[in-house]
Amino acid sequence: MRKYIQIASRTTSLLMKPGGFNQIARRLRTMALERYYGIETNKVVYLSELALDHAERREYAPVDFNDFDTLLARLTVTKEQNIFIDFGSGMGRALVLAARAPFKKVIGIELSDDLNDIARKNISRAMPRLRCRNIEVVSIDATEAEFPNDPTVMFFNNPFSGEILDRVLQNIRRSHSLNPRSITIVCNLPAKSAFYEQISKVEWLDHKESMTLSQGARIGLIYEVKQRGRGLAA
Ligand SMILES: C[S@@+](CC[C@H](N)C(=O)[O-])C[C@H]1O[C@@H](n2cnc3c(N)ncnc32)[C@H](O)[C@@H]1O
Repeated sequence: MRKYIQIASRTTSLLMKPGGFNQIARRLRTMALERYYGIETNKVVYLSELALDHAERREYAPVDFNDFDTLLARLTVTKEQNIFIDFGSGMGRALVLAARAPFKKVIGIELSDDLNDIARKNISRAMPRLRCRNIEVVSIDATEAEFPNDPTVMFFNNPFSGEILDRVLQNIRRSHSLNPRSITIVCNLPAKSAFYEQISKVEWLDHKESMTLSQGARIGLIYEVKQRGRGLAA
């Protein structure tokens, strides 16, 4: 009985805050979708709990379902020809959501073995509802990751910044120089972040679109790697 009184009291106080109704609607949608796909991703895990903490690495926190759908809807690439990579894939929510579309392959790159084990369980439970069944989760630091030679959509939900981000971006640039192809970079970031400060200065990326997400709390960004001869510095 006390539990229900607590839920009712929390819901009422949230409803009275500005935007409270939207927050409740989002929470209910999250619960419903987690249940529909059979996944459990709705947690925050600090990397200190996994003995992986580092000043440039961000904790695990899943992408918002609405935000991901907004970003995916703006992509103009042919999904059947593209590989989707999530940098810092955590418990696999973005992998599951991407695999609802007919991507050629979906790859998660995640530092933590523990989070990857959870992601694999989530993927196998969601599998009957997914269109892309070719999903791989790799336990590796993003700076060590190798990229496929296919056209690729690369997703970043604020996983890291600083030196780590610089190295990952240089690896993407090198991979593109060796094998020019379409590379789309999709970001979901807090309204202010070190990641945004860094990526917005990269001259070899063509900024395609910015959008407001999570009622202004976050921004979505879409970039494409410039093809040679289209303003790309040597
Ligand atoms: C904000 S969460 C994003 C989770 C997932 N992409 C999603 O959108 O639902 C960031 C993730 O990046 C991972 N991460 C941080 N630094 C990393 C690195 N250097 N290499 C690989 N993964 C990293 C963290 O462990 C965490 O799971």
